[in-house]
Amino acid sequence: MQKEIVLLPGDGIGREIMNSAKVVLDKVATLYNHQFTFHSHAIGGAALDEHGVPLPEEAVQACKTADGILLGAVGGKKWESLPPHLRPEKGLLEIRSTLGLFANLRPIKGFSSLLHASPLKEEVIKGSDILIVRELTGGLYFGKPSERREDGDAAIDTLYYHRSEIERVVDHAFKSAMIRDKHLTSVDKANVLESSRLWREIVEEKSKEYPEVTVEHVLVDAAAMKLITNPNSFDVMVTENLFGDILSDEASVLTGSIGLLPSASLNEDGVGLYEPIHGSAPDIAGKGIANPLGMILSAALMLRHSFELEEEAKAIEDAVQEALEQGYHTADLHIQNDGKQVGTEEMTQVVLNILSKK
Ligand code: NAD
Ligand code: IPM
Ligand code: MN
Repeated sequence: MQKEIVLLPGDGIGREIMNSAKVVLDKVATLYNHQFTFHSHAIGGAALDEHGVPLPEEAVQACKTADGILLGAVGGKKWESLPPHLRPEKGLLEIRSTLGLFANLRPIKGFSSLLHASPLKEEVIKGSDILIVRELTGGLYFGKPSERREDGDAAIDTLYYHRSEIERVVDHAFKSAMIRDKHLTSVDKANVLESSRLWREIVEEKSKEYPEVTVEHVLVDAAAMKLITNPNSFDVMVTENLFGDILSDEASVLTGSIGLLPSASLNEDGVGLYEPIHGSAPDIAGKGIANPLGMILSAALMLRHSFELEEEAKAIEDAVQEALEQGYHTADLHIQNDGKQVGTEEMTQVVLNILSKK
């Protein structure tokens, strides 16, 4: 199989972990006889430095014709005081919006060998396996542009959703539930927000098309609590953009580290951008200690969702699992010193070695 892959490393640890995903994909290409061609483009702070904008047009064009897109992370202190349209994060929001990537899938499944690495009790997190479907191109992040103003001491962000935006992401979540445990939790703030009342109404309507799926509505504040007290009560969760952003970072605690979690952002045509859920981690950037596994697992999601290479995706996921079972881990995973704490490159090498032995 021949595929063109766009790499958007971005900033901070994004640049360090992107190489890990690339070499793992190179290995998969060799082992399974595929041809992956990579095209790298700047985004975020790196693009501001090189081109003066957070998302250069050439990167957009490359993404539009790519078979799959991998993104590291954007952002950093250097660019924090720039005006909103020149912030690195604007580049990321723009590429999501331009490509219509409305469904952000964030699977949160702990590795059994890491149950003890979470600050939560093992008996609470054991067996948890959640898919957060986060709406990604609307809600509080995008508002209605004409209403988003900064006016002296006041600022407005609008939580606007059109019915069609909710319908498509909710439908995606129901479809995901159908191939999982057939339980959907819709998270909203319907006791306060009008947009949530519309959201809830649409979930109820849609549920008629999926009678096998049990539906539960949970208010976002209670959901935040339940996620860490009873994570096993969730299968698929669907929610608004900002709620999903916050809840997925919280859910990462179940696994032991945010550095382990991948995500897939998909549009109507199944075109996808794949990125770990964490950020550019300025506090550890440049030290060579970032966990590359969320990025590597994002590459596996690309093989599965965009290229339909299930066997190859699974091979990567199994290799990551085995590396962790063998005790290898990066510094973000708080495991008693056992001599198997490694840096980004060594962790990547361990995964490559396991893959080669398949
Ligand atoms: P962050 O996710 O970058 O870091 C939070 C904490 O987790 C830090 O202590 C960091 O060291 C740790 N961490 C994150 N990923 C790790 C990994 N792979 N390995 C080891 N440790 C890891 O969040 P933040 O500090 O709030 O944000 C930093 C910058 O990243 C900001 O500019 C923010 O806007 C940006 N950001 C970008 C993305 C993205 O590009 N998708 C996502 C989140 C935040
Ligand atoms: C994420 C990040 C982004 C978001 C930021 C950097 C715009 O936190 O991908 O989770 O909030 O969507
Ligand atoms: Mn986030």
